[in-house]
Amino acid sequence: MSERTESPAGFHDPVLAREVVELMAPTGNGLYLDGTVGGGGHTAILMDACSSCRIIAVDRDPDALEVARATLAQYGSRVRFIRARFDEALRSADLAEPLAGVLLDLGVSSHQLDSDGRGFAFRSGVALDMRMNAAQTDLPNAAQILNSEPEEALARIFHEYGEQPHSRRLARAVVERRSATPFRTSDDLVAVLYRTLRRAPKANEKARIFQALRIAVNEELASLERGLTVFREALAPNARIVVISYHSLEDRLVKNAFREWSRSCVCPPEMPVCTCRGAPLGSVLTRKAVRPGDVEVRRNPRARSARLRAWSKG
Ligand SMILES: C[S@@+](CC[C@H](N)C(=O)[O-])C[C@H]1O[C@@H](n2cnc3c(N)ncnc32)[C@H](O)[C@@H]1O
Repeated sequence: MSERTESPAGFHDPVLAREVVELMAPTGNGLYLDGTVGGGGHTAILMDACSSCRIIAVDRDPDALEVARATLAQYGSRVRFIRARFDEALRSADLAEPLAGVLLDLGVSSHQLDSDGRGFAFRSGVALDMRMNAAQTDLPNAAQILNSEPEEALARIFHEYGEQPHSRRLARAVVERRSATPFRTSDDLVAVLYRTLRRAPKANEKARIFQALRIAVNEELASLERGLTVFREALAPNARIVVISYHSLEDRLVKNAFREWSRSCVCPPEMPVCTCRGAPLGSVLTRKAVRPGDVEVRRNPRARSARLRAWSKG
């Protein structure tokens, strides 16, 4: 097994790398899919672990894909690249065989968080964009969401995705501010948070609000929910899906999907006889979410919130 734990370009440290390889167990000349290739760290580790395996490397961010193409060039035709949302990637993949395994390492890469100008993390004076694919002009960016969504919808984003206890007050303050001056930069949002809390927001409070908006801008939960079903159907028998989440809502969605797929009967309790599939579709491989150890978190603090779950098709 490879001992590589950093992406070749230092773009993003792959999280829970050993666990990903152990659970994915790549073998033979199987065709795998990495739905979130980022800097290519996990893909490289999987390709190193299995010399005849092939992989479809997907990312919706054109910049990430460009870096991945360069860092994964050594694997030649074993890696095929697709720029797409992962739940839509198989439409253009023209698959001739079922997938031997799927990996999703959700959220954003360290490179995206550190990139000035994209607005993923709080940095003073940066435009509120947050689209993973900025060329996708049909998706409203973060400023457009703040400037146009109804107050109720904003409160839901702040509450559900940002776990913000003052979500209603914050949404009201956003609506009040935008009627005078539209939102443009990160400082505009932080100023409204300051006014709502009546004190300077802490770094983690700012981070949670920025993360909430990013999830809304990129429709991340909808993409995950659809992607899980699409990939389950595309997997070969005994093939695995491994998902690393960084947000409790994502993790819950993955946990519930894997549990539901592993039940033998999914009929409502009032049904006198079973009329559903009557057999599990597969089994959960991780009874509890796998978390990074202290050593990994010390080396890579961004791994702290990671939760890994894996499922095997029956
Ligand atoms: C945490 S990083 C992945 C890092 C990667 N595992 C590595 O080792 O370098 C997440 C990546 O997934 C991409 N991404 C997030 N959600 C996506 C989606 N729904 N469809 C396609 N790509 C997505 C982001 O653009 C980002 O590059």
